[in-house]
Amino acid sequence: MALIDIRSLTFEYPGSLEPIFHDLDLQLDTDWKLGFIGRNGYGKTTFLKLLMDEYSYQGTITKPLPMTYFPFSISNYNVMTLDLLETLQADFELWRLQREMNLLEVGEETLYRSFSTLSGGEQTKILLALLFAEEERFLLIDEPTNHLDTHGREVVAKYLESKKGFILVSHDREFINSIVDHILTIEKSKVVLQRGTYDTWEQNKNLEDQYELEQNQKLRKELRRLKQSAREKAVWSDKVEAAKTGSGPVDRGYIGHMSAKMAKRSKAINKRYKETVDEKEKLLKNIETIDKLQMNVLNHHAKQYVNAEDFTIAYGSGHVFEPIQFVVEKGDCLVFKGGNGSGKTSIIKAILGKDVPWQGRLAIAKGITISYVPQKFHSVNGNINDFVDEEQLDKTKFFTMLIKLGFTRNQFEIPIENFSMGQKKKIFLAKSICEEAHLFVWDEPLNYIDVISRIQIENMILEYSPTMILVEHDRRFIDKVATDIIELSK
Ligand SMILES: Nc1ncnc2c1ncn2[C@@H]1O[C@H](COP(=O)(O)OP(=O)(O)OP(=O)(O)O)[C@@H](O)[C@H]1O
Ligand SMILES: [Mg+2]
Repeated sequence: MALIDIRSLTFEYPGSLEPIFHDLDLQLDTDWKLGFIGRNGYGKTTFLKLLMDEYSYQGTITKPLPMTYFPFSISNYNVMTLDLLETLQADFELWRLQREMNLLEVGEETLYRSFSTLSGGEQTKILLALLFAEEERFLLIDEPTNHLDTHGREVVAKYLESKKGFILVSHDREFINSIVDHILTIEKSKVVLQRGTYDTWEQNKNLEDQYELEQNQKLRKELRRLKQSAREKAVWSDKVEAAKTGSGPVDRGYIGHMSAKMAKRSKAINKRYKETVDEKEKLLKNIETIDKLQMNVLNHHAKQYVNAEDFTIAYGSGHVFEPIQFVVEKGDCLVFKGGNGSGKTSIIKAILGKDVPWQGRLAIAKGITISYVPQKFHSVNGNINDFVDEEQLDKTKFFTMLIKLGFTRNQFEIPIENFSMGQKKKIFLAKSICEEAHLFVWDEPLNYIDVISRIQIENMILEYSPTMILVEHDRRFIDKVATDIIELSK
């Protein structure tokens, strides 16, 4: 056991309005399997890069071991895999790499193929094997699941569970839950470390939120009472003021004295009111609220929105998967699962009327409006305002959605290219949620998306029952929202 010792760490990106870390003290044990979660853009990747000494910062970070960051930055994919690995990490021993690859269920022959020909899942597994091929290192593993299918996630989860000495950033609850023994979270105003796993964190968070919500409720009641009493006092002192200038046998001196006293009291009440508001604001800071999302689901008269029979995709000679049948009716949420390359995105494209070679029967109800979130999103120039103009979005609606998804107003001004991956993905997801449509077609919508937003999206789907076709690998999500699951087999 050794300690990574972080003292008074302060860091902000040049030109940004607020620091990402302020005076952070943290001690981490190099024997831990540390899960690292937090909303998109809160600074998880930044923290790992600080540990890698990629940026200059204030404070000190003492590291007892050298560290390696995953994913590696790779400039050329068109080289033999083994050659590529040697450029990434010079001094590993081949037998060790092979041992790790074996545990991760990747064939050795992949080492002698061009890296560009490997599937996303194979690439991820080989690079993970490389991380663990060298000993005496502390590993910083940043979102390894994005290219892994359900089976791949299970294999990698079992693998990482058997290892130790790493920080793992992941938004996949099932995945992270089965691996880690400690959890680090970045919240709005603090970084919190606790023993346990994702479920422990979620339970604690629910309890804490419940407590803080109750506190807030109490405060709100008190605020109401204070407001009411401030109003009554004001009315009373107005009346007294009016009486002072009115006619009749009154003791003006006495009333003037009372009125001044009331004004003083009213001031004191206002002060107390303000203090209570401040206190409430401080409290609110610590709640990472799971705001409700709204969506506009259009109603179509057709009962069946999509109907497919004997349907398959055929590139060249063979079928990509065994022919399937499916029907999507109003309110259904159909989820396609399947390994890398099993044809999920191709089905989506066929449904969208894009040019893919499909066979069989595929009927889409006439006049259906589809809202689509692609798996791979295109890069966007400019800031969010430019995006709103370009896509002709309803600005208020779109901004409200982004804020509920965890953005701050400051971020609307910065170039989108500086956004974290999750923040970029959220722009496209938010756009679709704001759109009015009959059918929502989302291809791996949760890649890069943080845990809180996953919960928000689940709740929204359960509340609005939109008609949906999804490709997704997040098991907890599928368990909650799917009305039908189709597993593609080759
Ligand atoms: N070069 C930069 N200049 C200015 N701001 C930046 C820059 N790089 C990142 N940021 C901002 O810093 C914040 C933290 O980014 P970071 O990539 O660390 O987030 P993250 O927690 O890893 O998010 P995700 O879960 O989406 O991966 C974000 O709000 C991002 O917009
Ligand atoms: Mg990140």
